[in-house]
Amino acid sequence: MPEIQLPDRTLQADEGANLLDCLLENGIALPWSCRAGHCQSCLVQSLDGRIPEAAHAQLSVEQRQSGWLLACQCRIDSAMQIKPYDPSRDGMTARIVSLSHLSGDVLILRLKPERPVRFKAGQHMLLWLANGLCRPYSIASLPSESELAFHVRLHPAGQFSAAIAACQVGDRLSLSPASGHMHYDPDWQDKPLLLLASGTGLAPLQAIARQALLEGNGQPMQIWHWSHGSAESYWGDHLQALKLGSPQLDVHLGDRANLAADLAHLRLVSRRTQALVCGSSAFIEQVRKRLFMAGLAARQIVDEAFLNRRP
Ligand SMILES: Cc1cc2nc3c(=O)[nH]c(=O)nc-3n(C[C@H](O)[C@H](O)[C@H](O)COP(=O)(O)OP(=O)(O)OC[C@H]3O[C@@H](n4cnc5c(N)ncnc54)[C@H](O)[C@@H]3O)c2cc1C
Ligand code: FES
Repeated sequence: MPEIQLPDRTLQADEGANLLDCLLENGIALPWSCRAGHCQSCLVQSLDGRIPEAAHAQLSVEQRQSGWLLACQCRIDSAMQIKPYDPSRDGMTARIVSLSHLSGDVLILRLKPERPVRFKAGQHMLLWLANGLCRPYSIASLPSESELAFHVRLHPAGQFSAAIAACQVGDRLSLSPASGHMHYDPDWQDKPLLLLASGTGLAPLQAIARQALLEGNGQPMQIWHWSHGSAESYWGDHLQALKLGSPQLDVHLGDRANLAADLAHLRLVSRRTQALVCGSSAFIEQVRKRLFMAGLAARQIVDEAFLNRRP
């Protein structure tokens, strides 16, 4: 039975068990969210360098060099010495500068980090509250902007939703480093962009559209945004303002209930189109099918599912 050594205790693990499951079963309150290696909620640091390849394959070079690994992706093959991510020691503090409630149960959260944050337009980071609760959110602002903005959907029974809605301007949060494959790629500079979002899946995609325009992408660009219950987008005014200054941009707002019909009308302006899709897993699956039928190859579609935490 391999031993898992933590700073204050040692656990006996079953060989082949998942590290996140093992820690949770033993009462270690390690945060987790997606269990798919995307969100980085379950970061732990190896103190003895024994890291199965799959457990850090999705991390940056800097994170790998510092011994970080994802517990949800780690199979226990041998003894390990680890310590969990500690937001007060390993994270960066940020102050809430504004909280604005918009239609569709969306909260726009703006933070001023204690020092500039490195990220690419469209990536996400973990927001940690003082009580240790954390969730992943996509950064809606651009690297060139001094504040970090987030579009937070307030779930009726969501733990983080309730806690962030009760926060005040001036409260402090902790941030873990930005990460994720959803970001603007300079290789797309000469490609038409098709950005398809449902709900707050718009957050990273409007950032990617703005970054593309900022970097001088002059190709046709379409943003489709579907909202639940109506065709009114919580970000409609901002999208229309963006369109006014960008002749190559088309904006389509739709009701999620009409997704299938809207997708049937979707036309690609070119076979070289790069598509980006963001929202729930069900939304992504439906959109991907349509994009394949329209002739796009898998490498021309980048998606990010806003996976919810499930027991
Ligand atoms: C990479 C990434 C980026 C993301 N970016 C964003 C973003 O920019 N904006 C955004 O709004 N979201 C984003 N999300 C999703 C967000 O992190 C989750 O929706 C988060 O779980 C919400 O936290 P919560 O504590 O409010 O809800 P949770 O408490 O985690 O609950 C989430 C949902 O599950 C339901 N639920 C909870 N427990 C149960 C249960 N036992 N049985 C059934 N249902 C249950 C809740 O009612 C709620 O609807 C992102 C997710 C990922 C992985
Ligand atoms: S990366 Fe492990 S829970 Fe999301």
